[in-house]
Amino acid sequence: MKKTFHTERLIVRPLTLDDAKDFYRIVDEDPKHAGQISLEQRIDRIHAYLTNDALEPGLGWWAVTLQTDGSFIGRCGLDSYLTDFLQFEDDPANLYHSIEVELAYHIGIDYRRQGFAFEACHALVEHAFTELKLRRIVSVTNQDNIPSQNLMRKLGFRLQRNLHPEFSDRMIGILNNTIILA
Ligand SMILES: CC(C)(COP(=O)(O)OP(=O)(O)OC[C@H]1O[C@@H](n2cnc3c(N)ncnc32)[C@H](O)[C@@H]1OP(=O)(O)O)[C@@H](O)C(=O)NCCC(=O)NCCS
Repeated sequence: MKKTFHTERLIVRPLTLDDAKDFYRIVDEDPKHAGQISLEQRIDRIHAYLTNDALEPGLGWWAVTLQTDGSFIGRCGLDSYLTDFLQFEDDPANLYHSIEVELAYHIGIDYRRQGFAFEACHALVEHAFTELKLRRIVSVTNQDNIPSQNLMRKLGFRLQRNLHPEFSDRMIGILNNTIILA
């Protein structure tokens, strides 16, 4: 079963179809994304997430909610995929594509810069390393997304350029699992 994480101020719980409207308002209506997807498409995508969640409950998507009143303030996730758009700076000669698990996050505009993304992501990182025992996780963001890069740094990711010529506008963060090795 998919886990729920209780942090100091948050409940990071499995995403459900009932979250679709809040998800749409907080994530899809963010000025940077607005107009890219309809509410119906979002419902379909959440439905697809939930199908994958059933297959691999350790990964997938979580709702970030406030402990005080349960408000939905964002989402975070661990998403696994083939990294055919990434070429790692620390392994430039490697032409194989790897399957990686990406840490992804979005906090609503009204709730930013209060440490909520760090708090939610920290819980997922700990889950990824202690429960799932992943060797490492990655995070990918645009070069101009300074908030996202600063969040990665705060979580301990080391950042590098993406050497893939078609996606050189992306930065890659890598966080190795040192918890198990410690
Ligand atoms: C990136 C994002 C999740 C950060 O959320 P947040 O809750 O504001 O982040 P936190 O408050 O936990 O801050 C984490 C670190 O990032 C830094 N940071 C956050 N917003 C920042 C900003 N606008 N400018 C500079 N640094 C910023 C914080 O200062 C903090 O580091 P510090 O404690 O050393 O100061 C949020 O800006 C967001 O949802 N952006 C849109 C979605 C997005 O870009 N997702 C990634 C796409 S790949």
